[in-house]
Amino acid sequence: MTAVASVDVSLDAPPTTYAREVFGHFVEHFHRQVYGGIFSPGSPLSDEQGFRADVVEALRELAPPVVRWPGGCFVSSYHWLDGVGPDRRPHYDLAWRVTDPNTFGTAEFVAWCRAIGAEPYVCTNAGTGTAKEMSDWVEYCNLPAGSGRWADLRAEHGSPDPFDVRFWSIGNENYGDWEMGAKTPAEWASLVRESAKMIRHVDEDVSLLTAARADLGWTLPLLTAAGSNLDLISIHGYWDVLNLVEAPSDYLTAVGRSLGPQSDIERTRDILGAAGLAERVGIAFDEWNLRGWHHPDGDRPELIAARDLNDVNSTYTMADALFSASFLNACLRHGDVVKMANIAPTVNTRGPLYVHPTGLVRRTTFHVLAMYAHLLGGRVLASTALADGLTGADVPVIDHLATVDEAGTRLSLVLVNRDPTAAVACDVRLGGHVLDGAYDATVLDGPSADAYNDVDHPGTVVPRPVTVGVHAGRTSLPPHSLTVVHVDLP
Ligand code: AHR
Repeated sequence: MTAVASVDVSLDAPPTTYAREVFGHFVEHFHRQVYGGIFSPGSPLSDEQGFRADVVEALRELAPPVVRWPGGCFVSSYHWLDGVGPDRRPHYDLAWRVTDPNTFGTAEFVAWCRAIGAEPYVCTNAGTGTAKEMSDWVEYCNLPAGSGRWADLRAEHGSPDPFDVRFWSIGNENYGDWEMGAKTPAEWASLVRESAKMIRHVDEDVSLLTAARADLGWTLPLLTAAGSNLDLISIHGYWDVLNLVEAPSDYLTAVGRSLGPQSDIERTRDILGAAGLAERVGIAFDEWNLRGWHHPDGDRPELIAARDLNDVNSTYTMADALFSASFLNACLRHGDVVKMANIAPTVNTRGPLYVHPTGLVRRTTFHVLAMYAHLLGGRVLASTALADGLTGADVPVIDHLATVDEAGTRLSLVLVNRDPTAAVACDVRLGGHVLDGAYDATVLDGPSADAYNDVDHPGTVVPRPVTVGVHAGRTSLPPHSLTVVHVDLP
C-alpha cells in the first residue's frame, strides 16, 4: 500500500527569519582535512598560498557563511603562538597523536575563509590552555596595531590590519573524558566565566560561544555562572557512530535517527529556559553529522585504520543526504534559538567533499547543502504535516519545511520522502487551498537508497531539475528523495 502524507502551509502567521550561519562548516586539524585536504602546498591543484583551488571553488558553490577551526579535540592541546609568524614550531597533537607542522595557522585560516567567502570562527584551547592565552589570541586577531604586544606581533607578521574575527568559542567538548584537560561542571563554569570576561575586555563585540551539551548537570551551572556574557552555547551531535569493527548502519537504521537533532535542540532550549536565558542566548550546533567518529583506545595502526575507514565513499549515501535535510529542517524550524550549525567536517573523513591528490568528489551531502543554500527563501512559514510511519524505522515517512523569500512572492517547499523503495502520495494545502498545477522543482534522489558518489562515479547522485505535477492537491514524491518545489504566491 502506498504511504500517504499531507502538508498544510499557513500564509496567515508571520514568517520567522533564520540565521544563515546554520549552513556553516567545520575544519579540524585531523586526518586529511587541513594538510592534504584544503591546504596542499606544492600540489599542482593548489594556488600560490597552498590552498587547493578546486576545493575553494567547490566550497564557494555552497556560499558557506562561517567556518569553525582548528578543532575539535585537536584544539585542546593547540597553542596558537606555534602557528603564527615566520618561525613555525611543529607540535605533537595529543588528540590525534600526530605531529602537526603548524604551517597552517591563524593567518592561513583567515585568508582561506576570505577565499571561500566565509566568516572565520575560532575555537580556543580551554583544555590545556588558559583564559589569558585565549584573550591574547583575540588581541592578536582583532585589535589595531599599537594596542599591545599581540596586536603588534600580528603587524610584525605582515598583517597591519586586524583580522576581525567575529566568532569565538571557549573550548570544545570539555565535558568528555576523551578531551585533553577535561573539566568538571564546576571547573567549567568558573573557567568560562573568567575567559569570557577577559575576551570581552579585549573585544566586547565578538560573538561568544562555549562548549555545552543537552545536559542539565553540565549546562545549568555554566549558564548560571557565565550565561550573561555568552551569545551562543555550542552543542554537538553525531547520531551514527562509525567504529573499527562494525559496518556503517544500513539505510533504515541511519534514516531512523532523523528525529535526534530536533530532540537535542528542544532539550537544550529547555535548559536555556530553566536558566532564564531563552531570549538572550542561542544554540550553535557547531559539530553535526549523521556519522560520528569513534575514538578508539587502540594503538597507532588501529587509529590509522579508523581514519581511513572514515574515507570510504560508499558509506555516504542517500541516507546521509536525507538525514542532513532533516537536520537542517529541524534547525530552520527552531530558527528562533538555533543561530549556527557547522557540518563536521567540511572535507574528508565524513565530510560533504572528499578531496584526493588529483581531484575531489561531491558527496550526497554536498548537494543537500547546495540546495539549501540556493533554493530556499530566507524566512520560514508555519506549517504542519501528518504522515504514515516509515516501515522499519520509528520516524514519519516524510519530513518537510516551507520557506518564503523576502518579497513574500516565492514559496519554496522542501519535501523529504524517507521510504527507500516506494513513492509517497502527498497532499499539499497552501493558505487553506489545495495546490493544483505544474511547478518547477529540484530533486535529489539517485538510482537507489544506497547510491553514493565516488572517484570513479562522481555524478551518480546529483540534483536534477523537474516539473512536479500536483492534481487536486496531491503529488507523488519519488523514493529516497529530497525535493524543493517552487510556488509563486499572488
Ligand atoms: O570529528 C572528530 C571529533 O569528534 C572532534 O574532534 C570532536 O569535537 C568530536 O568528538
